[in-house]
Amino acid sequence: MVSRVADEKPQLSKKAACNSHGQDSSYFMGWEEYEKNPYDPVSNPSGIIQMGLAENQLSFDLLEEWLEANSDALGLRRDGVSVFRDLALFQDYHGMPEFKNALARFMSEQRGYRVVFDPSNIVLTAGATSANEALMFCLADHGDAFLIPTPYYPGFDRDLKWRTGAEIVPVHCTSADGFRVTRAALDDAYRRAQKRRLRVKGVLITNPSNPLGTSSTRADLDALLDFAASKCIHLVSDEIYAGTSFSSSSPAAGGFVSVLEVLASRRDHTLLADRVHVVYSLSKDLGLPGFRVGAIYSSNPGVVSAATKMSSFGLVSAQTQHLLAALLGDKGFTRRYLAENKRRIRERREQLVNGLRALGVGCLDGDAGLFCWVDMGRLMRARTFDAEMELWKQVVFQVGLNVSPGSSCHCAEPGWFRVCFANMSAKTLDVALQRLAGFVAKMGTGRRATPVPARSLSCPIAMKWAHRLAPASAKAER
Ligand SMILES: Cc1ncc(COP(=O)(O)O)c(C=O)c1O
Repeated sequence: MVSRVADEKPQLSKKAACNSHGQDSSYFMGWEEYEKNPYDPVSNPSGIIQMGLAENQLSFDLLEEWLEANSDALGLRRDGVSVFRDLALFQDYHGMPEFKNALARFMSEQRGYRVVFDPSNIVLTAGATSANEALMFCLADHGDAFLIPTPYYPGFDRDLKWRTGAEIVPVHCTSADGFRVTRAALDDAYRRAQKRRLRVKGVLITNPSNPLGTSSTRADLDALLDFAASKCIHLVSDEIYAGTSFSSSSPAAGGFVSVLEVLASRRDHTLLADRVHVVYSLSKDLGLPGFRVGAIYSSNPGVVSAATKMSSFGLVSAQTQHLLAALLGDKGFTRRYLAENKRRIRERREQLVNGLRALGVGCLDGDAGLFCWVDMGRLMRARTFDAEMELWKQVVFQVGLNVSPGSSCHCAEPGWFRVCFANMSAKTLDVALQRLAGFVAKMGTGRRATPVPARSLSCPIAMKWAHRLAPASAKAER
């Protein structure tokens, strides 16, 4: 006889069952649609082109050339002698000294050697995802809040909130001042957090910004440090796109400036030093998200010690450290790679910006990142979040481009979309622009593309999605 107890399903934990992971955001839904019908110039020329993924595939040939010329690194050898056994057994969560030294030097190089990174302040993690979460675990208790300027990387809802129980309070930035983070917007977010009785533990920025593709100015960073100082809170700067900044290597000419550089120039730097933390990863600059290599940089010994212990849950494998110690240790290679990669990013971005401009579609001026922040307001029937979702569904299903709507990045203004350009060939980008041109032409002749009815969405998840995109839920998402 089967008992009733045996019939019942065991319950999952609250964490496993709750949906604060953010997987059902339109950002990830678009990826699912792409997976079902991916574009291929030969086998599926009418498929969806993935423009919602900030991947850097522009410089793989440079990495492959290096690998070919340095077979010891991949062959798990050093000076021709096998290190297989050492690597197979290596499990020290402090990381390999030769890799940390090489990473510290590489991070300095990206910042024009204006910042010196001490390898003993680096904690290695499985990507920036893991670094951001570990930092939240170190800095915030369940229910504490971080202020984050909008629009922000949609993955932060998962990375910062889901397992930690921390809260995100948006700092609403607007197009009126190029989406810069102002003191007024910071004060407003702080007040809203207080109203919700949340204890604010810090501000987290991405510099250069995902999704804006812009770098913070020295003045912006100074204002953020002033704010952190006045509220006695932390400042986290996710600098995962540092090496994509293509405008210039000189900050005087508007190039990328790290928060650590601005911190060092301040009178109160010793006071603030243990409250400023940087996140980095090789996922974007080197285009290696599959290798899962990230880092926390902090001068706070408590943070370094706690995060190092936590890194046991997401270490960088020994063979990856071995390979990348050799690659990043090759100064001639990193110098050439950084310069050429930036040149290619700038060129590809220009291709997209010029193509959009020819269609009368504008972008925010940018100097970094693997995407443009595009104003598609003129293609919408009204400047509302409803109309933004309507346009987005048309662009995904009719035009066949998966772009990310601003609302998935918690943008306070409807009409903006993040459009990625570095995960495809120049030819594919041309195809995408041609498709968009066809769509704009169709709209221009008065035949507005018809909204996608819910029943034409291809699966049950799409039905749920269509429902989720109703105005009320779009608001809730922000
Ligand atoms: C701002 C930002 N932080 C973190 C991540 C996660 O990066 P990783 O692949 O290193 O985990 C991303 C990825 O897109 C990102 O854009």
